[in-house]
Amino acid sequence: MASTVRKAVIPAAGLGTRFLPATKAQPKEMLALVDKPAIQYVVEEAVRSGITDILIITGRGKRSLEDHFDRSFELEYYLEQAGKFDQLKEMREIAEMANIHYVRQGEPRGLGHAVLVAREHVGDQPFVVMLGDDIMHERAGVLDSMLDVFERHRGAVVALKEVDPQEIQFYGCATPEAIDDHLVRILDIVEKPAVESAPSNLAVMGRYVFPPSIFDALDQVQPGSGDEIQLTDAIKLLLADEAVYGWTFRHGRFDVGNKLDYLRATVELALEREDLGPGFRAFLAGVARREGLG
Ligand code: G1P
Repeated sequence: MASTVRKAVIPAAGLGTRFLPATKAQPKEMLALVDKPAIQYVVEEAVRSGITDILIITGRGKRSLEDHFDRSFELEYYLEQAGKFDQLKEMREIAEMANIHYVRQGEPRGLGHAVLVAREHVGDQPFVVMLGDDIMHERAGVLDSMLDVFERHRGAVVALKEVDPQEIQFYGCATPEAIDDHLVRILDIVEKPAVESAPSNLAVMGRYVFPPSIFDALDQVQPGSGDEIQLTDAIKLLLADEAVYGWTFRHGRFDVGNKLDYLRATVELALEREDLGPGFRAFLAGVARREGLG
């Protein structure tokens, strides 16, 4: 079913402290996975799902994000003169993928607050929220499936994935009621519960489809976990009034939120590349032999 949702919000105002010193003078969203900044994967995913308007919530020190999605005339001129037409085309396409807008969050008051900053831009329309720490593989089709659920049920949809029970403390956590294959209704949701008291091991992954009513909920939310305005707490308020759905999936998510997971994601994505994969695979096999791993 073709989606009617056209707007996406990508919060990118965080300081990236889990990635210091790499993020001291550059945004974490600009860290490359193989040869593309992490945020470009997210924007490409949005565009594939029919999103045409993207609002990136930024903060101080995030100028390079805007430069990345803008035209670069010197670079284009050089590539043209050098006859590097494939690269020239690729650079132009990055600047033409979507209408990308930027607004600053001002003060770092949490994910929920970052989304609330988008209120005026989004207006009275459904929209998606995409978090840059979660990179989704095209094959998994997570956002497409979520948009499909939204068209059928007209309620908020949250991406969910089972994690190791010890890991649930790092995520939003849902209490589900099964509806269908992959589809659940969310009965309750809590941000970063303690392992002992977590209601399930179904973790919120960073993709959401929201009706505009989420903004009223966000307006009412008080600071929660980490003394921040949490998006999860707004979802909890929303589900008291209207149905909220979860789309459960297993594969195709790369976590780039911390150093170890970032290394994993880099390896997986490099292995998939036609140009780099074969050589890189042979290199990894050599490393595994040397380290006595295989
Ligand atoms: C955020 C959300 C959390 C979600 C996670 C997914 O947490 O608050 O509910 O599970 O993203 O990556 P953060 O990782 O920003 O602390």
